[in-house]
Amino acid sequence: MKGGSNKTPPAAAGPDGDTAPTEPVAPGGAPPQGATRSTGAAAELPFERTTAWLADYAPALRVTEQGSVVSVGDGIAWISGLPSAAVDETLHFRDGSRGICFDLERDLAGAVLLHQTQRLTAGTSVHRGRRQVSVPAGDALLGRVVDPLGAPLDGRPPPAPAEPQPLDAPSPPMIQRRFVSEPLFTGIKIIDGLIPVGRGQRQLIVGDKGLGRSALAIDAVLAQAGTGVHCVYVMIGQKRSSVVGTIDLLREHGALDYSTVVVGEASALPGLKYLAPFAGCALAEHWMVRGLDTLVVYDDLSTHAQAYRELSLLLRRPPGREAYPGDIFFLHAKLLERATRLAEDAGGGSQTALAIVETRLGEIASYIPTNLISISDGQIYLDRDLFSAGVLPAIDIARSVSRIGGKAQPAAIKREAGRTKLDYLQFLELEVFTRFGARLEAGMARRLKRGAVLRELLKQDRLDPLPIRVQLALLIAYNAGLLDELGEEQVPDAEARLRQAVEASPLTLDDSRETWLDAIRRWLSTEAAAEPASESADEPPT
Ligand SMILES: Nc1ncnc2c1ncn2[C@@H]1O[C@H](COP(=O)(O)OP(=O)(O)O)[C@@H](O)[C@H]1O
Ligand SMILES: [Mg+2]
Repeated sequence: MKGGSNKTPPAAAGPDGDTAPTEPVAPGGAPPQGATRSTGAAAELPFERTTAWLADYAPALRVTEQGSVVSVGDGIAWISGLPSAAVDETLHFRDGSRGICFDLERDLAGAVLLHQTQRLTAGTSVHRGRRQVSVPAGDALLGRVVDPLGAPLDGRPPPAPAEPQPLDAPSPPMIQRRFVSEPLFTGIKIIDGLIPVGRGQRQLIVGDKGLGRSALAIDAVLAQAGTGVHCVYVMIGQKRSSVVGTIDLLREHGALDYSTVVVGEASALPGLKYLAPFAGCALAEHWMVRGLDTLVVYDDLSTHAQAYRELSLLLRRPPGREAYPGDIFFLHAKLLERATRLAEDAGGGSQTALAIVETRLGEIASYIPTNLISISDGQIYLDRDLFSAGVLPAIDIARSVSRIGGKAQPAAIKREAGRTKLDYLQFLELEVFTRFGARLEAGMARRLKRGAVLRELLKQDRLDPLPIRVQLALLIAYNAGLLDELGEEQVPDAEARLRQAVEASPLTLDDSRETWLDAIRRWLSTEAAAEPASESADEPPT
């Protein structure tokens, strides 16, 4: 691809490789006409010094390329006269617009615009930047909202000095990776218990629009407060209002302190929407290779696929299934492959990816969702019926999986959650069965009631991540049957009290089940004793 780049000797390029080659620059850095132009101080220099560069100067033939825009529109430009342009390299237009070379044809290069001025028209001259796109990365980016090229969108000065990190980088090779063995708690009971995520895992959040996919991802980011995990929230093709809403939520809950938000909003050039996830990934990579754990949210990759399809169709690439270009699978695979857990000698950090995927009418079997499901380590599936029934978060446990997160789950949680999951799935089946009005024997009725309590227990408001110790206490309480006597409406109250007690207690995940059980019994019984006196005197004693 880049075979032609050696036509131009390196000396022809300016200091950063993108100077318009109008004035020849001599080796040694002095201007060639220096001797004639300079006056005053330079004239007083010894003759040898002013002319020293002449000794090394050898006039040589220099070939430069100046392209010119043939047509421009819809966020792309066709350019002629750049025979040695390479795919993915930056292009600079005379009017100040910028783009990347995306497509090479016989006589034309197709460019995706990343910055477009009003003055860009046919005939504008173009030259090659000879660089890959990069984004400034580093701790200066924490708390910032930037576009995929690192330009600030929060009205503050550019995040400098920050190190450039290439958007396109190879994923770490196998020998630099470690198994996923540390948990990444999201604070969401269903996820941490039943569909756990480990650091370095790639997990999808799949579902129709409006079922709370972003809400889950935001909660997961909030749950990283105080854990040292750096977060990157990438928003692709969202309306300004929802972008602002998400940023405000993160800020209000103090999550911006350890996060960066990358935005390619709906009205942005399609090129920026296309680059946004790679920019987010690059930012996280910068921290990962320095030993930090990171969490990247892609909200969402379906919109990203659409932006890529738009660009590809405009650039006349052959459409494949559902009109997506054939390499969309490769593109997403390459992106998600970069999420991993590094071995100690390769840096030792991790990048966990939570990628949001949109389905239509719950159809997971369409092209982009199936692609993504096959290149990730599991998916959290949101269901419209659950959402309508008020079972929030509306996670369909039967259709959600985590292929590797279980290996990272703390032993205590794993032991309790395994039972809970089984109970719950059996309950759901039983519930369907009894919908037909079958008369129930006592045992079944009890199991139904227990299941209903569990469903209530797994419900959770958004923006309220639950510490993992509290989650353990709830699971133990449920598995030991301590909540069986509660009515469904009493569950939230019991949970709140248990939460308060756990947060005040020093018990840890490593304490034995018996220790926990004793404490939980004590907490629940003091609660029962305190209850009639304090709040509901008319409630029958249990
Ligand atoms: N656990 C929850 N509790 C209460 N409301 C929720 C919960 N999860 C989501 N919602 C609500 O559902 C709506 C849609 O959520 P959102 O995350 O924007 O959906 P999506 O990103 O899937 O389009 C929002 O109004 C949100 O407040
Ligand atoms: Mg959303």
